[in-house]
Amino acid sequence: MTSPEQLAHPEQIPGYDLGRDRSARSPLTLDELAKLEAAAGLTDHDDRRLAEAGEILTPYAAEMVDAWRALLAPHPHLARYSQHPDGTADEAYAAASHPRFARWIIDVCTRPRDQAWLDYQHEIGLRHTHQKKNQTDGSDSPEHIPMRYLLAFTGPVIATTREFLARSGRPADDIDALHAAFTKAVMLNVTLWTRAYVATEDW
Ligand code: HEM
Repeated sequence: MTSPEQLAHPEQIPGYDLGRDRSARSPLTLDELAKLEAAAGLTDHDDRRLAEAGEILTPYAAEMVDAWRALLAPHPHLARYSQHPDGTADEAYAAASHPRFARWIIDVCTRPRDQAWLDYQHEIGLRHTHQKKNQTDGSDSPEHIPMRYLLAFTGPVIATTREFLARSGRPADDIDALHAAFTKAVMLNVTLWTRAYVATEDW
């Protein structure tokens, strides 16, 4: 569904709008991002570990997306957000969003967290809500993923990544350090996405 060629050239992935005018602008400043990075515990040490994690995970990114979708699929109340209103599969939607999801894994590990990256995190958040879901790929699936499912699914996303990191054959201590850095980075990403859901004064 997602080719190595697409992952190496994300600008060719339809709807991957990082750095493009089509992306939303984040309401946050880079100073506010730095405060959130501190809260997430992300250090320069973690960024070096993330770069290593990116090298390990890149060949598995498409498979990881398949694994995560396989966790959602058996649950009708979760699977419905990728389906037509009558509950049948929206294969075009699944195919179109797959490479963006896979590229996200690589971006978590390797993309400098600059203004363009920050802006695109807000865009991804919006794409899980009624504000922008379905628009990129022209789907007619339910138009809003509740924030509680977004947050709850962060657990499986993080936990299952350890197995992919372990495929590198590195010692368990190393894998723990890579996994810890990945955990903090995913929490930072998903926290930024919640800004699309939550009133400014509460966020
Ligand atoms: C930590 C949890 C989650 C992560 C890391 C995640 C990640 C992503 C990413 C990276 C994208 C592509 C964004 C882009 O267009 O570049 C995406 C889109 C999408 N995700 Fe999630 N997601 C999470 C939770 C969920 C849950 C719980 C569901 C459904 C129950 C879901 C359903 C979708 C759908 C349907 C899209 C396409 C949205 C659109 O119409 O543009 N996601 N997700």
